[in-house]
Amino acid sequence: MKNKTAFFCQQCGYESPKWAGKCPACGSWNSFVEERVEKTNGKQQVTDLWHEENKQAGKAKSIETIVAEEETRQTLPDSELNRTLGGGLVQGSVVLVAGEPGIGKSTLFLQCALHWQGMRTLYVSGEESAHQIKMRAERVGQKNENLFLLTATDTATIFQEIKKIKPQWVIIDSIQTLESPYIESAPGSVSQVRECAAELQRFAKQTGTPVCIIGHITKDGTIAGPKILEHMVDTVLQFEGDRHYAYRILRTLKNRFGSTSELGIYEMTSNGMRGITNPSEVLLTQHDEPLSGIAIAAAIEGLRPMMIEVQALASQAVYGTPQRTTNGFDLRRLQLLLAVLEKRGGFHFGSKDVFLNIAGGLKIEDPSIDLAIVCALLSSYEDTALPSNICLVGEVGLSGEIRAVNRIEQRIAEAAKMGMDAIIIPKANAKGLDQANFGIAIRLATKVSDVYQSLF
Ligand code: TYD
Ligand code: MG
Repeated sequence: MKNKTAFFCQQCGYESPKWAGKCPACGSWNSFVEERVEKTNGKQQVTDLWHEENKQAGKAKSIETIVAEEETRQTLPDSELNRTLGGGLVQGSVVLVAGEPGIGKSTLFLQCALHWQGMRTLYVSGEESAHQIKMRAERVGQKNENLFLLTATDTATIFQEIKKIKPQWVIIDSIQTLESPYIESAPGSVSQVRECAAELQRFAKQTGTPVCIIGHITKDGTIAGPKILEHMVDTVLQFEGDRHYAYRILRTLKNRFGSTSELGIYEMTSNGMRGITNPSEVLLTQHDEPLSGIAIAAAIEGLRPMMIEVQALASQAVYGTPQRTTNGFDLRRLQLLLAVLEKRGGFHFGSKDVFLNIAGGLKIEDPSIDLAIVCALLSSYEDTALPSNICLVGEVGLSGEIRAVNRIEQRIAEAAKMGMDAIIIPKANAKGLDQANFGIAIRLATKVSDVYQSLF
């Protein structure tokens, strides 16, 4: 019998019977790979392993006969994880946790499972031996008799064990190592990942067991190959951060059961991940004397206000084309801000190399840190230090105007809490703001030039 094959785009999972140079779905070049897709009737058997009969499925019902139920949530022993999931783990939900290798996905979930006493958990690892996992568990230093380890990659074996152990929570580490017996292509290939995720999803929905799937991310930041996974799961969490720094951000990219603007912050320590409840405290560095090129922003990431230190260095360019390098901030946004300073303020950044760094290795997406970035750049340009007790907030527009930002009260309150003496905010935000209420001096600004005049 001839094996049935199909071509899959490794970027987006698009399936095609023929090879093509360019993917018609996502437009990437040379991304098609031939995979064997042997579909047998056996798929039914895997489902049977956990569910004998599901008579209700496949029958249409009137929407009025369906009772709306509030989803049941279970609170995890990790407050940061609870927060990112929108208030706990929902029964029968499938959560994809994506991140680069070595960022701490396995550590976080093993640790959480170890701390969740009384929760019958099955941790399936296709990456490490039971011995290795035990060593990791010892670093975390917590015992839990209800945590079961399974080192397997074959989904049939996994579901057999699930049937025996009857876990209340299943963790899969990682989806790229799984292999379904009903698909012939290699583990990690698009068709294999899709099939395994679909089997896990059916299991979760039919039994009401929450499943957390760990997935690796490729260098360009997409969830390795199978973008399709994002559509299949209920929640997508993404781990971010620089491996060389201790801080990690767990961001919600998609959540069927909650908000996507939540995020958790962790520190990687020698005995596991530690949730950080007050980010400002760890992100602000104490300097003995004020240094040039440093500005403090009152940012909001997710729903949390945090004070962030921005560091800039502008130095005479060595080559004809000056360099621009950023860490934790969008490079194109930096180029735009430099162009604004050049054109509107007459600062000659065109002859300078510019380096920009967000302290702590975090990636900041909040546009309100523009003003702090501009001030850090100017401070380095002028080689004049800014007072260390002032923080800044505001988005900078193309004509150098400072635009209003959201949730200004929260930012001011955080700045006051962190002991800042003054905060510079967009004038447009001052309307309706009771300035005397915060216990911090509030200065208003409309243009970058106002701020420049008042600080330098
Ligand atoms: P890991 O969870 O294996 O990453 P992932 O599953 O995302 O690939 O984390 C790997 C790193 O974490 C590794 O470099 C060792 C480090 N680590 C600690 O710093 N402290 C710890 O307690 C543990 C268990 C690991
Ligand atoms: Mg791992």
